Amino acid sequence: IRRVVAAVHVPVTVKFRKGFDDGHSNAVEFAKMAAAEGARAVAVHGRTRQQGYSGKADWDIIRSVKRAVGIKVIGNGDIFAARDAFDMLEHTGCDGVMVARGAQGNPFIFAQIEKLIKSGEAGRKPTDEERIKMCLLQARLAVEYKGEHAAMREMRTHAPHYTKGMRGSARLRAALVKIRTYGELEGVLLEFLRANSENKC
Ligand SMILES: Cc1cc2nc3c(=O)[nH]c(=O)nc-3n(C[C@H](O)[C@H](O)[C@H](O)COP(=O)(O)O)c2cc1C
Repeated sequence: IRRVVAAVHVPVTVKFRKGFDDGHSNAVEFAKMAAAEGARAVAVHGRTRQQGYSGKADWDIIRSVKRAVGIKVIGNGDIFAARDAFDMLEHTGCDGVMVARGAQGNPFIFAQIEKLIKSGEAGRKPTDEERIKMCLLQARLAVEYKGEHAAMREMRTHAPHYTKGMRGSARLRAALVKIRTYGELEGVLLEFLRANSENKC
Protein backbone atom coordinates (compact mmCIF):
# COMPACT_ATOMS: atom_id res chain seq x y z
CA ILE A 1 0.00 0.00 0.00
CA ARG A 2 2.84 2.37 0.90
CA ARG A 3 4.54 1.75 -2.43
CA VAL A 4 1.38 2.29 -4.42
CA VAL A 5 0.64 5.52 -2.54
CA ALA A 6 4.16 6.75 -3.33
CA ALA A 7 3.94 5.73 -6.98
CA VAL A 8 0.63 7.28 -8.05
CA HIS A 9 -0.97 10.72 -8.06
CA VAL A 10 -4.50 9.60 -7.31
CA PRO A 11 -6.07 8.75 -3.95
CA VAL A 12 -5.49 5.10 -3.08
CA THR A 13 -8.35 3.11 -1.61
CA VAL A 14 -8.20 -0.44 -0.28
CA LYS A 15 -10.95 -3.05 -0.24
CA PHE A 16 -10.91 -6.14 1.92
CA ARG A 17 -13.11 -8.59 3.75
CA LYS A 18 -13.89 -9.01 7.43
CA GLY A 19 -10.98 -11.44 7.66
CA PHE A 20 -9.85 -14.84 6.50
CA ASP A 21 -12.09 -16.98 8.69
CA ASP A 22 -13.94 -16.73 11.99
CA GLY A 23 -10.72 -17.20 13.93
CA HIS A 24 -8.99 -14.48 11.93
CA SER A 25 -11.32 -11.48 11.67
CA ASN A 26 -8.67 -8.83 11.29
CA ALA A 27 -10.51 -6.08 9.38
CA VAL A 28 -9.95 -3.51 12.14
CA GLU A 29 -6.18 -4.09 12.31
CA PHE A 30 -5.99 -4.24 8.53
CA ALA A 31 -7.87 -0.94 8.18
CA LYS A 32 -5.58 0.75 10.71
CA MET A 33 -2.55 -0.52 8.82
CA ALA A 34 -3.97 0.68 5.48
CA ALA A 35 -4.69 4.13 6.94
CA ALA A 36 -1.21 4.35 8.48
CA GLU A 37 0.33 3.55 5.09
CA GLY A 38 -1.56 6.29 3.29
CA ALA A 39 -4.82 4.76 2.05
CA ARG A 40 -7.45 7.49 1.75
CA ALA A 41 -10.44 5.20 2.20
CA VAL A 42 -11.21 1.57 2.88
CA ALA A 43 -14.09 -0.57 1.69
CA VAL A 44 -15.06 -3.48 3.92
CA HIS A 45 -17.13 -6.51 2.90
CA GLY A 46 -18.54 -7.95 6.11
CA ARG A 47 -17.85 -11.61 5.29
CA THR A 48 -14.71 -13.67 5.72
CA ARG A 49 -12.86 -15.27 2.82
CA GLN A 50 -13.96 -18.66 4.12
CA GLN A 51 -17.62 -17.62 4.07
CA GLY A 52 -17.57 -16.72 0.41
CA TYR A 53 -21.13 -15.48 -0.09
CA SER A 54 -22.69 -17.68 2.59
CA GLY A 55 -24.37 -16.34 5.71
CA LYS A 56 -25.06 -12.68 6.26
CA ALA A 57 -22.60 -9.83 5.96
CA ASP A 58 -21.51 -8.69 9.41
CA TRP A 59 -22.27 -4.98 9.56
CA ASP A 60 -20.89 -4.77 13.12
CA ILE A 61 -17.36 -5.24 11.79
CA ILE A 62 -17.94 -2.28 9.45
CA ARG A 63 -19.00 -0.21 12.45
CA SER A 64 -15.87 -1.30 14.35
CA VAL A 65 -13.67 -0.29 11.42
CA LYS A 66 -15.40 3.08 11.18
CA ARG A 67 -14.77 3.71 14.87
CA ALA A 68 -11.13 2.66 14.57
CA VAL A 69 -9.88 4.82 11.68
CA GLY A 70 -10.00 8.47 10.67
CA ILE A 71 -10.22 7.85 6.92
CA LYS A 72 -13.43 7.30 4.95
CA VAL A 73 -15.05 3.90 5.34
CA ILE A 74 -17.24 2.36 2.66
CA GLY A 75 -19.51 -0.41 3.88
CA ASN A 76 -20.23 -3.41 1.69
CA GLY A 77 -22.37 -6.52 1.82
CA ASP A 78 -26.02 -7.42 1.29
CA ILE A 79 -27.41 -4.15 0.00
CA PHE A 80 -30.21 -5.25 -2.30
CA ALA A 81 -32.58 -2.31 -1.88
CA ALA A 82 -32.36 1.38 -1.04
CA ARG A 83 -33.62 0.66 2.46
CA ASP A 84 -30.64 -1.67 3.07
CA ALA A 85 -28.22 1.14 2.21
CA PHE A 86 -30.02 3.49 4.57
CA ASP A 87 -29.91 0.85 7.33
CA MET A 88 -26.21 0.17 6.79
CA LEU A 89 -25.35 3.87 7.00
CA GLU A 90 -27.37 4.12 10.21
CA HIS A 91 -26.04 0.93 11.76
CA THR A 92 -22.36 1.39 11.00
CA GLY A 93 -21.89 5.15 10.68
CA CYS A 94 -19.93 4.46 7.49
CA ASP A 95 -19.32 7.26 4.99
CA GLY A 96 -20.56 5.49 1.90
CA VAL A 97 -21.87 2.17 0.70
CA MET A 98 -20.77 -0.19 -2.06
CA VAL A 99 -23.35 -2.26 -3.94
CA ALA A 100 -22.42 -5.28 -6.06
CA ARG A 101 -25.03 -8.02 -6.59
CA GLY A 102 -27.87 -5.62 -5.81
CA ALA A 103 -26.86 -3.50 -8.81
CA GLN A 104 -26.77 -6.35 -11.31
CA GLY A 105 -29.63 -5.72 -13.70
CA ASN A 106 -30.66 -2.97 -11.30
CA PRO A 107 -28.60 0.20 -11.74
CA PHE A 108 -31.76 2.01 -10.61
CA ILE A 109 -30.70 1.19 -7.05
CA PHE A 110 -28.23 4.08 -6.93
CA ALA A 111 -30.82 6.76 -7.70
CA GLN A 112 -33.22 5.02 -5.31
CA ILE A 113 -30.64 5.15 -2.51
CA GLU A 114 -29.95 8.82 -3.18
CA LYS A 115 -33.67 9.62 -3.21
CA LEU A 116 -34.30 7.77 0.03
CA ILE A 117 -31.43 9.50 1.80
CA LYS A 118 -32.30 12.97 0.48
CA SER A 119 -36.08 12.90 0.71
CA GLY A 120 -36.93 9.97 2.96
CA GLU A 121 -39.02 8.52 0.14
CA ALA A 122 -38.29 5.21 -1.50
CA GLY A 123 -39.54 6.06 -5.00
CA ARG A 124 -41.33 3.69 -7.33
CA LYS A 125 -40.00 0.51 -8.88
CA PRO A 126 -39.05 0.69 -12.57
CA THR A 127 -41.50 -0.86 -15.03
CA ASP A 128 -40.56 -3.87 -17.17
CA GLU A 129 -40.18 -1.50 -20.13
CA GLU A 130 -37.82 0.78 -18.19
CA ARG A 131 -35.76 -2.22 -17.12
CA ILE A 132 -35.45 -3.52 -20.67
CA LYS A 133 -34.59 -0.07 -22.04
CA MET A 134 -31.89 0.23 -19.37
CA CYS A 135 -30.53 -3.18 -20.36
CA LEU A 136 -30.28 -2.03 -23.98
CA LEU A 137 -28.56 1.19 -22.90
CA GLN A 138 -25.99 -0.84 -20.94
CA ALA A 139 -25.49 -3.02 -24.03
CA ARG A 140 -24.92 0.00 -26.31
CA LEU A 141 -22.46 1.54 -23.86
CA ALA A 142 -20.63 -1.78 -23.58
CA VAL A 143 -20.41 -2.04 -27.39
CA GLU A 144 -18.96 1.48 -27.52
CA TYR A 145 -16.49 0.67 -24.78
CA LYS A 146 -15.26 -2.80 -25.73
CA GLY A 147 -16.69 -3.75 -29.11
CA GLU A 148 -19.71 -5.84 -29.99
CA HIS A 149 -18.16 -9.29 -29.59
CA ALA A 150 -16.92 -8.82 -26.00
CA ALA A 151 -19.95 -6.73 -25.07
CA MET A 152 -22.43 -9.37 -26.18
CA ARG A 153 -20.61 -12.14 -24.35
CA GLU A 154 -21.00 -10.05 -21.19
CA MET A 155 -24.61 -9.18 -21.93
CA ARG A 156 -25.44 -12.90 -22.00
CA THR A 157 -24.84 -12.75 -18.24
CA HIS A 158 -26.16 -9.26 -17.56
CA ALA A 159 -29.39 -9.29 -19.58
CA PRO A 160 -31.03 -12.11 -17.55
CA HIS A 161 -30.48 -10.05 -14.40
CA TYR A 162 -32.62 -7.29 -15.92
CA THR A 163 -35.48 -9.62 -16.83
CA LYS A 164 -35.41 -11.76 -13.68
CA GLY A 165 -38.87 -12.02 -12.15
CA MET A 166 -40.70 -10.88 -15.30
CA ARG A 167 -43.37 -13.20 -16.67
CA GLY A 168 -41.77 -15.76 -19.03
CA SER A 169 -38.23 -14.76 -18.08
CA ALA A 170 -37.04 -18.37 -17.65
CA ARG A 171 -37.78 -19.12 -21.33
CA LEU A 172 -36.31 -15.80 -22.39
CA ARG A 173 -33.07 -16.70 -20.64
CA ALA A 174 -32.47 -19.57 -23.06
CA ALA A 175 -32.51 -17.07 -25.94
CA LEU A 176 -30.43 -14.46 -24.13
CA VAL A 177 -27.52 -16.80 -23.43
CA LYS A 178 -27.07 -17.28 -27.18
CA ILE A 179 -27.09 -13.70 -28.45
CA ARG A 180 -24.17 -12.67 -30.65
CA THR A 181 -25.05 -9.16 -31.84
CA TYR A 182 -26.68 -6.05 -30.42
CA GLY A 183 -29.40 -6.42 -33.06
CA GLU A 184 -30.23 -9.92 -31.80
CA LEU A 185 -30.36 -8.73 -28.19
CA GLU A 186 -32.64 -5.83 -29.05
CA GLY A 187 -34.87 -8.06 -31.17
CA VAL A 188 -35.25 -10.70 -28.45
CA LEU A 189 -35.92 -8.18 -25.68
CA LEU A 190 -38.36 -5.97 -27.59
CA GLU A 191 -40.29 -9.00 -28.81
CA PHE A 192 -40.47 -10.29 -25.22
CA LEU A 193 -41.74 -6.91 -24.04
CA ARG A 194 -44.33 -6.75 -26.83
CA ALA A 195 -45.60 -10.30 -26.13
CA ASN A 196 -45.80 -9.63 -22.40
CA SER A 197 -47.71 -6.37 -22.82
CA GLU A 198 -50.17 -8.06 -25.23
CA ASN A 199 -50.75 -10.83 -22.69
CA LYS A 200 -51.58 -8.23 -20.08
CA CYS A 201 -54.36 -6.65 -22.16
C1 LIG B 1 -19.98 -9.75 -10.73
C2 LIG B 1 -19.15 -9.42 -9.52
C3 LIG B 1 -17.83 -9.06 -9.69
C4 LIG B 1 -17.02 -8.74 -8.59
N1 LIG B 1 -15.73 -8.36 -8.80
C5 LIG B 1 -14.97 -8.00 -7.73
C6 LIG B 1 -13.63 -7.54 -7.92
O1 LIG B 1 -13.13 -7.48 -9.05
N2 LIG B 1 -12.93 -7.17 -6.82
C7 LIG B 1 -13.46 -7.23 -5.57
O2 LIG B 1 -12.80 -6.86 -4.60
N3 LIG B 1 -14.72 -7.67 -5.36
C8 LIG B 1 -15.48 -8.05 -6.40
N4 LIG B 1 -16.76 -8.50 -6.19
C9 LIG B 1 -17.27 -8.59 -4.81
C10 LIG B 1 -18.08 -7.35 -4.48
O3 LIG B 1 -17.32 -6.17 -4.64
C11 LIG B 1 -18.62 -7.36 -3.05
O4 LIG B 1 -17.56 -7.30 -2.12
C12 LIG B 1 -19.46 -8.58 -2.73
O5 LIG B 1 -20.23 -9.00 -3.85
C13 LIG B 1 -20.42 -8.26 -1.57
O6 LIG B 1 -21.26 -7.18 -1.90
P1 LIG B 1 -22.81 -7.41 -2.31
O7 LIG B 1 -23.48 -8.08 -1.15
O8 LIG B 1 -23.32 -6.02 -2.57
O9 LIG B 1 -22.82 -8.29 -3.53
C14 LIG B 1 -17.57 -8.81 -7.28
C15 LIG B 1 -18.91 -9.17 -7.12
C16 LIG B 1 -19.71 -9.46 -8.21
C17 LIG B 1 -21.15 -9.85 -8.00
